[in-house]
Amino acid sequence: MKVVRRLEELRVLRAGLAEPLGLVPTMGYLHAGHASLVRRARAECASVAASIFVNPTQFGLREDLAAYPRDLPRDLALLAAAGVDLVWTPEVEDVYPAGDQTWVTVEGVSRGLEGDRRPGHFRGVATVVAKLLHAFQPQRAYFGQKDAQQAVVIRRMARDLLIPVEIVVCPTVREDDGLALSSRNSYLSAEERRAATVLYRTLSAASEAFGTGERDAEPLRQIMRAALSGEPLAHPHYVSVADPETLEELQGEVVQALLSMAVRIGATTLIDNVVVGAQEGEEQVRADG
Ligand code: PAJ
Repeated sequence: MKVVRRLEELRVLRAGLAEPLGLVPTMGYLHAGHASLVRRARAECASVAASIFVNPTQFGLREDLAAYPRDLPRDLALLAAAGVDLVWTPEVEDVYPAGDQTWVTVEGVSRGLEGDRRPGHFRGVATVVAKLLHAFQPQRAYFGQKDAQQAVVIRRMARDLLIPVEIVVCPTVREDDGLALSSRNSYLSAEERRAATVLYRTLSAASEAFGTGERDAEPLRQIMRAALSGEPLAHPHYVSVADPETLEELQGEVVQALLSMAVRIGATTLIDNVVVGAQEGEEQVRADG
């Protein structure tokens, strides 16, 4: 596995990789969720590249950029073991050249949900992912369903900018108790970690209700609010029953929906989602699976 910092080195080594190339963009502090994206890329592509870059432009003023967890040696060991060929670990000035003036803004699907809670976040995400796609020129790029709105924004951006890449969205990897793996889980105290199981319990309650015939959007949101209110440490930012493609909040009959939420537990906000009424092929994955 080759690890490079400079864009010029990246371009030279990328040119020597077998096609098709699969890219897994990350912000590091990697876990089994990231590893599942690498495994999927490894299975589908002739070579696999990854990036580790804590992208400052997707963090808000009051967010955790400085405190975002980092462990490069461990990350590189995980990527090497998972079969990555090439890793880019740029510094901020490698990705944002001095005097830069260019941003990528995706409109409609960046609004609502995380877009409302984190103004400017998806501009930062769309901009950095566009740069990564240009730098690596992969045929496929792999993202997690864990960040459902991010995946929708990136797919829209790639289509709109005519970038010749297939965006592959992979299932959320969870702990045995259902908690979605996240670099931010490391912020939780033992008591908060226990409380965090309420997110998956809440999604399961609503998806069971859907399974047994509840097809109205507002009662599904009510079930989610009620389940969250059972955990005193959980402070919801939002609960949502939305169209999985447009992300518009649904009213009335639900055929297919993205059930999602952002919940603050202590100083940490966690997000999670499930799709109900899904087509086949969308399954849940365990951390050891
Ligand atoms: P990061 O949070 O490091 O996540 C990198 C990728 O791993 C994302 O596509 C994310 O959805 C996926 N992922 C995270 N947790 C997962 C889980 N439990 N199961 C499956 N996939 C999971 O998301 C970002 O970085 C950044 O916004 C990035 C796209 C790299 C742009 O800076």
